[in-house]
Amino acid sequence: LTQITDHVQRGNYAQLNDKDVSHFEQLLGKNHVLTEDLDGYNVCFLKRIRGNSKLVLKPGSTAELAAVLKHCNERKLAVVPQGGNTGLVGGSVPICDEIVVSLQRMNKVLSVDEVTGIAIVEAGCILENFSLRAQEAGLTVPLDLGAKASCHIGGNVSTNAGGLRVVRYGNLHGSVLGVEAVLANGQVLDLMSNFKKDNTGYHMKNLFIGSEGTLGIITKLSMLCPHESKAVNLAFIGLNSFDDVLKTFVSAKRNLGEILSSCELIDERALNVALEQYKFLNAPISGYPFYMLIETSGSNGAHDEEKLNQFISLGMERDEIRDGTVTGEPGKVQEIWKIREMVPLGLIEKSFCFKYDISLPLRDFYSIVDVMRDRCGDLATVVCGYGHLGDSNLHLNVNCERLTDEILHRVEPFVYEYTSKLRGSISAEHGIGFLKKDYLHYSKNAVAIDWMRDMKKMFDPNGILNPYKMLA
Ligand code: FAD
Ligand code: MLT
Ligand code: ZN
Repeated sequence: LTQITDHVQRGNYAQLNDKDVSHFEQLLGKNHVLTEDLDGYNVCFLKRIRGNSKLVLKPGSTAELAAVLKHCNERKLAVVPQGGNTGLVGGSVPICDEIVVSLQRMNKVLSVDEVTGIAIVEAGCILENFSLRAQEAGLTVPLDLGAKASCHIGGNVSTNAGGLRVVRYGNLHGSVLGVEAVLANGQVLDLMSNFKKDNTGYHMKNLFIGSEGTLGIITKLSMLCPHESKAVNLAFIGLNSFDDVLKTFVSAKRNLGEILSSCELIDERALNVALEQYKFLNAPISGYPFYMLIETSGSNGAHDEEKLNQFISLGMERDEIRDGTVTGEPGKVQEIWKIREMVPLGLIEKSFCFKYDISLPLRDFYSIVDVMRDRCGDLATVVCGYGHLGDSNLHLNVNCERLTDEILHRVEPFVYEYTSKLRGSISAEHGIGFLKKDYLHYSKNAVAIDWMRDMKKMFDPNGILNPYKMLA
């Protein structure tokens, strides 16, 4: 565990006392107030941050959560909202001794409407459970990511998570129709809606999508879920250059257009780490510097497969695609997706891993990987890139045997300067959290950051919600 919170000065918050704990026990019941074995709540997924919280609260309803926050606000006790704790920027764990408010118990799918496609779900529902329930009604949750077995839908919305299908369904600002959130003072803000179209004033629900628990705690939400596609086909292809990758992406948009549902990139180094770490994975082809996963979802399997095969033949005729395989068999489709999903875990488990999650203009999408590899030289063991090419979102990862100042200074702030010069975004999907708070200015100017601070003060005048995060 790398402790990077030593320099943080505790804010001017009250100290938790026995009276507070008894009050919470009365509100929630003793079983839902934890004071022991809190490691799982204190340590972040990347094991880079260990907080020192002495208390975890698990409210079971919006009313209970409202009573908890009202007390915390009156007493000036700091709080960190926590979903599945799979976030990659240290946003979901305490930095000092903040009380952890876990949404684990608020985990029900409240309704799924097969006609409208609208599902209403509590924030603590695990994404995979929500997806299975939607599937039973013939619907698809328009969000899928490698952490689906642990992350919560509320955590996804709070980080505006992207994942594998943004190219098809857009981001959560579009799919989430409404939210209910409890504010710092315990007020319940009902912004639930069952309609795509609602222009009654400011679109306040969007403030909660991606604000990482700094403005309020989401308790439930309504989501528009598309009807499930009858047929899913997946191609795994090998390419010789990034130029060929771009040509292939343009061709996919042109030739697969309405059925294209995912377009992912994995470079050879990233793939090799996953294959070395997890022997059960089988890559269908090997020996290329770049691989793409191109998925189609449509209503006619045979027709879609034919289109996908034609697209591959065309790419091969033009020497853009070197080799590839196509499958529509659900088991095989899953097996290939597993390779992509294990890439981040492989890198995290291999050794210390600097993770970057940046939006870059497509023409300059991959150059930073080569530049970074040169900058790091022997200090790094792997410098690789993969990610959501279809959304211009690169995951640049730098692995090293152990974290040293020398490698840290080669990598940061260079990665942010490079991204900023290209007018990219320093966080495409994981958010700012704790790890990136000192770098926000690379993507937002001073005026924008001042307005963000003012908004934060308005929603949370005592600054009790997720302090030390997002705004330095
Ligand atoms: P947490 O980690 O618990 O919390 C994340 C942030 O949201 C914190 O700031 C927390 O305070 C806040 N929060 C949580 N719940 C609430 C709530 N109810 N109300 C208010 N604030 C709340 N991310 C992507 O975007 N795309 C990917 O493809 C992707 N793939 C991943 C793959 C793996 C293997 C892993 C480990 C992570 C991946 N992530 C990805 C990152 C992460 O899974 C997402 O950010 C996810 O949305 C976090 O959900 P969570 O429930 O774990 O939230
Ligand atoms: C992914 O797309 O795999 C995730 O965002 C996690 C990562 O960046 O590694
Ligand atoms: Zn991602």
